Amino acid sequence: IAKSAYPNAPDTDYADSALREKAKQALVKVRASLGNTYQPLINGEWVQSSQLVDCFNPSNSQQLVGKVGYATVEQAQQALAAAKTAFPTWRNTPVRQRAGVLRKAAEIMEQRRFELGAWICLEVGKILPQADAEISEAIDFCRYYADEMERLDQGYNYDLAGETNRYTYQPRGIAVVISPWNFPFAIAVGMTVAALVTGNCTLLKPAEQSSIIAAKIAEILLEAGIPPGVFSYLPADGPTVGAHLVEHKDVHLIAFTGSQAVGCYIYAEAAKLKPGQKHLKRVIAEMGGKNAIIVDESADLDQAVAGVVASAFGYSGQKCSACSRVVVLESVYESFMHRLIEATKSLNVGKAEDPSTTVGPVVDQEARDRILEYIEKGKQEATLAFQSPTPTGGYFIPPTIFSDVSPDATIAQEEIFGPVLAVIKAANFNQALEIANGTNYALTGGLYSRTPSHIEQARRDFEVGNLYINRNITGAIVARQPFGGFKLSGVGSKAGGPDYLLQFLEPRSITENI
Ligand code: NAD
Ligand code: ALA
Repeated sequence: IAKSAYPNAPDTDYADSALREKAKQALVKVRASLGNTYQPLINGEWVQSSQLVDCFNPSNSQQLVGKVGYATVEQAQQALAAAKTAFPTWRNTPVRQRAGVLRKAAEIMEQRRFELGAWICLEVGKILPQADAEISEAIDFCRYYADEMERLDQGYNYDLAGETNRYTYQPRGIAVVISPWNFPFAIAVGMTVAALVTGNCTLLKPAEQSSIIAAKIAEILLEAGIPPGVFSYLPADGPTVGAHLVEHKDVHLIAFTGSQAVGCYIYAEAAKLKPGQKHLKRVIAEMGGKNAIIVDESADLDQAVAGVVASAFGYSGQKCSACSRVVVLESVYESFMHRLIEATKSLNVGKAEDPSTTVGPVVDQEARDRILEYIEKGKQEATLAFQSPTPTGGYFIPPTIFSDVSPDATIAQEEIFGPVLAVIKAANFNQALEIANGTNYALTGGLYSRTPSHIEQARRDFEVGNLYINRNITGAIVARQPFGGFKLSGVGSKAGGPDYLLQFLEPRSITENI
């Protein structure tokens, strides 16, 4: 069904010098607030935690961004108790009012756009234009889910003469949102506001690496009028407090985005019935990818190279949607490799806050060590074709390209989540598609081709949730490219799409004889 374009929030135009200046001033202002302490929000109050954890800037590992008070298991239980108390009122709060909180939150995000972008840049090392795109996506999630809930609230009417038949939706109860650090604002906001607008009381457990930007989400929701107990912000350790919430009998729904390993654990654990539990938990799990772009012999190679470079090295490859494999047909392989290396040489690796930087750091020391191990493994498995020079002082990893990679090599199968690209040669298009489909992931994929039969075959047989033809494979837009995968990339419907909110609701059918 054709739909008119959704009015997405526009990103900042960094070509405009006045807007660039605003972004610069916001960075100065945020730098002046570095070192502050952020505490959990439970039942409408900022509570004290004695377990303070320091967060450092990935671009400058000596710079303290702030201290975060990690919630304890007892505090998580207090948040659950507050959510239980708040639920009867929140579930009966008119949808227009719940949607109004989201629309107000979107307005505040627009007002605080530059400041929020600066926090993302300093806390997780994302360059400003990409941080800015996250603010737009979060605003879109708020407005789109508000509209969607108002649509669903109308329900369905199957009345007959003498009998009314109404199909409606009710919230599930208590939702736990467990978010990743790589889209610290947009993804955390998206899952949280979806849970809230559908009438669920919601606990947000953000990734340890991005708890400060998540505190900003809590500030915004408070200012937007979220009632006490309906929303709690619980910065905490995943394997202890996160796991406790997953296992708790009072939780009805878990919305998770993160790694395959943790997602599979949550899916299995949530299925276990606990003493006193009177419902089955619903799990929405969006997990990783090992995404491939196929370049065939008819592709516009300039376009293909630009798309692969942007998809592989944007945010240092730390996107679930990133390209980590490029499958190139034999006849254009040499020419593609040459151009790919030349294009990668032009990337500017540096501090995320520097305007000239195109590739910033990776998120922390642990990520850096893990990626370096994969690079060492890659040297044993394939040919190191190119590595950019890298600066020091932060968690920098050089954009790295391996050529002649075997489709079943470790670096072609496992999600590295860093700026490491495996180039694989294919004899023909069928083989290219087989290689692209040859992992246990199915998140994003791309094809550069001007051959209609190849495009048709990819539409049909490329096993990915989001397929992009003749463009880069990152940067899905709400209500335009609803986002999410299948196979071991995810269980759940697409974020920013028309089925997403259904997962947070329970349908009911009520018949009345009249
Ligand atoms: P992660 O799985 O390490 O952590 C995600 C969240 O889970 C964090 O909040 C963490 O504290 C929590 N957690 C960890 N162990 C837990 C446990 N035992 N119980 C409960 N919670 C626990 O992932 P990450 O490093 O934060 O994010 C990167 C991963 O996320 C990558 O694999 C990436 O592909 C994936 N991702 C997927 C999507 C998508 O939409 N499919 C989007 C962004 C990121
Ligand atoms: N939604 C994000 C993207 O498409 C992950 O890049």
